Parts: sequence; structure tokens; C-alpha cells
Amino acid sequence: MEKQFEEVVQFIRTLYQQPEGFIPLHAPVFSGNEKKYLMECIDTTFVSSVGPFVTRFEEMVASYTGAKHAVVCVNGTAALHIALMLVGVQAEDEVITQPLTFIATVNAIAYTGAKPVFVDVDMNTLGMSPKSLNNFLEEFGEIHDDGGCYNKQTGKRISACVPMHTFGHPCRIDEIAAICEKYNIKLVEDAAESIGSTYKGKHTGTFGAIGILSFNGNKTITTGGGGMIITNDEQLGKRAKHLTTQAKLPHRWEFNHDEIGYNYRMPNINAALGVAQMETIDTMLASKRAIAEQYAKFFATKGIHFCKEPQNSVSNYWLNSILLSDRKVRDEFLEYMNDNDIMSRPAWTLMYKLPMFKEAVCVDLSNAMSIENRLVNLPSSSR
Ligand SMILES: Cc1ncc(COP(=O)(O)O)c(C=O)c1O
Repeated sequence: MEKQFEEVVQFIRTLYQQPEGFIPLHAPVFSGNEKKYLMECIDTTFVSSVGPFVTRFEEMVASYTGAKHAVVCVNGTAALHIALMLVGVQAEDEVITQPLTFIATVNAIAYTGAKPVFVDVDMNTLGMSPKSLNNFLEEFGEIHDDGGCYNKQTGKRISACVPMHTFGHPCRIDEIAAICEKYNIKLVEDAAESIGSTYKGKHTGTFGAIGILSFNGNKTITTGGGGMIITNDEQLGKRAKHLTTQAKLPHRWEFNHDEIGYNYRMPNINAALGVAQMETIDTMLASKRAIAEQYAKFFATKGIHFCKEPQNSVSNYWLNSILLSDRKVRDEFLEYMNDNDIMSRPAWTLMYKLPMFKEAVCVDLSNAMSIENRLVNLPSSSR
């Protein structure tokens, strides 16, 4: 086994042309106008949430994703929190999501006071399984006279569904959207990891009522910290901006607010980075795709499963993942890689195992469990 692990180390060192030293999982690349635009913020003193880069960044992301409206946020978690409120999620509702996700997905659900319900993921997309979602709703979902979908067993209203495009690979989002529509459940896409990923030619995050993106430092493009709400619905877009700016009513000098709002708008200094990053996104995605192709070729010769972009999809290959035979081999592999300065990480601990969510409703989660035991993410920065 050790010989094979060493071959992986050598392959990654050659891939990143780095014969020694630490290779991170995902480092940002600043190769464009980042410094120039940051200096512009400082020179003009527009460093806070009012400034030309903020709206420019929103326009660029809207045009890139094909969403009619894009509203910046301080981070992806805040964007998801607002998105859930915008579609009407209320305390004590249930929100369906997947257990294989980053904690922020489920924390945002918890911020609204709603309870997560966990359905399984597909092995080939690593994202929410439409079959598992449908099975759950066929068994437990019923539409009441108010038009809402309710869980027969718990009596709670199922107000939203939050699939996540894991590591940048699109899940079968059109099927998920159709199921949500049938049961009158709002679809909120967690596309935090999938800027640049499309399903059947359409950008992830644009299939439901609303979607969110993250521009955290570890993502494909970064604003340091940052997020975006994307939607085709003008009213939702307007309300997103209102809620993220303290629900302040426009007036030349008066301070009036018509509901409880949030200080969630991204500062101009972060948006400046975002604009520069958007200018180079195509090059970064091309580089990531070339890296993924080399990983795929290498692992094919080793008989190790490499997670390729699913059918009908273009993946941004945010993180390149492999599936090993079991948890023991996974742990040995992680130890070897990290001992040799190659940053590698397992998938997240499944959400229902965390103390805050251990009471959550769960269905059969065999695929998520298998992926949790076997998956390892490898260095994936663009070069
Ligand atoms: C799936 C998922 N959802 C939400 C988030 C939250 O984004 P942020 O870190 O920008 O708050 C992240 C990433 O960090 C993520 O990976």
C-alpha cells in the first residue's frame, strides 16, 4: 500500500511542479487586477459596503450565472440564512437537506429555527439523491388545505429543500426541482462550492426560487470572505437587498427600518477582489479542469476511483476527490499524505452525527455513509 501512496505523493508533486514543501488543498490565485482594485478602494476611501465594486461584482455574477438578480453578502452562510427566510422558512418548519455537506448548510437552517431532515446522496454526483427525496416525500409528505406540504409523522410543515452541489459537482437538480414543485416545497440551492458548474447548460443555483454562492478563501474564486444570493425573481432580489442592509427604507437623511434586518452586505474592499477574480475565472476554471483530467488519467492506471463530473454536467472541479476501499485505508492514506506535506482531507462528518442535529429526521443514508468512510479530497488549486 505504501508504495502506491508514495506514487500519489510523487504524482501530486509533479502536477504542482513542487518537488518539496507543503502543498495546500486549495489556495487562492491572484493573477489579475486584485492589487490595483484594492488600491482604488483605499485611494477613494470607499472601503465599506457602499462603493462601485459592490454593484459591479453583483452585475458580473448575475451575468455569468445567468441569474436575473445577484445580491452580495458577507459570506455564503449569511446568504443561505437570508435565502431561507426569503422563501418563508419559519421556526419549527422542516427543511430537507443532505447529511453530506459543510456545517454551514445546516447551521443556516437552524438559524431560522427550522429542523433539518436528512435524505441520502447519489454515489455518482455526491449531491442530493432525487430518488431518496422522492421516497421520503411519498412516505411522509402530504399537502394540506393551506397548500403547504406537511410531514405526516411529525406534523411539521416542510417548507424548503436545500440540495448542495458537493465539491462543485452538480447534483440531479432538474429532477429535484420537479419533486419540490410537485410537493409545493421551495427549492434553495446551496451552490457555495459550485461557481462555474452547470447542469444541462444552466448554472447551478438558478434552478429553484433562490441559490447561494460562497467566495470564502478556499473557494474557486475568493473575496476573502463573501457570498451571493442569486435569483430570477425580482421581488426576492429586492427583498434580499433590503434584508441584508438592515431593512433600511431609502431616504436622503432619515433612518427608518420596516422590519428586523441584518448587516450582511459585502464591503467594497471584498467586492474589489471579487471583480478582479471574476475577470480571470475562465482561466482558473480551465486550469482546474486540466488538473482534474490529469488526476483522472493517473488514478485510472492505479485502479482507484476518481470522482468525475456527473452526466449532463460541467463541474468546476472545486475539489478533486477519490474513493478508497474503506475507512481503514482512507485513514492510512490521509496519514501518509499529510505526513508528506500533501494536504488531504476526508469528507465532512455526516451532519446527523453532530450533537446539535442528532434528533433530526433521517432516512436510509447508505450512500452518504459510504462516501464519508471512503472519500479523500486532494490538492486542487488552479495553477
Ligand atoms: C456547502 C457549503 N455551504 C455553505 C458554505 C458557507 O460559505 P461561507 O464560508 O462563505 O460562509 C460553504 C463554504 O464555506 C459550503 O461549502
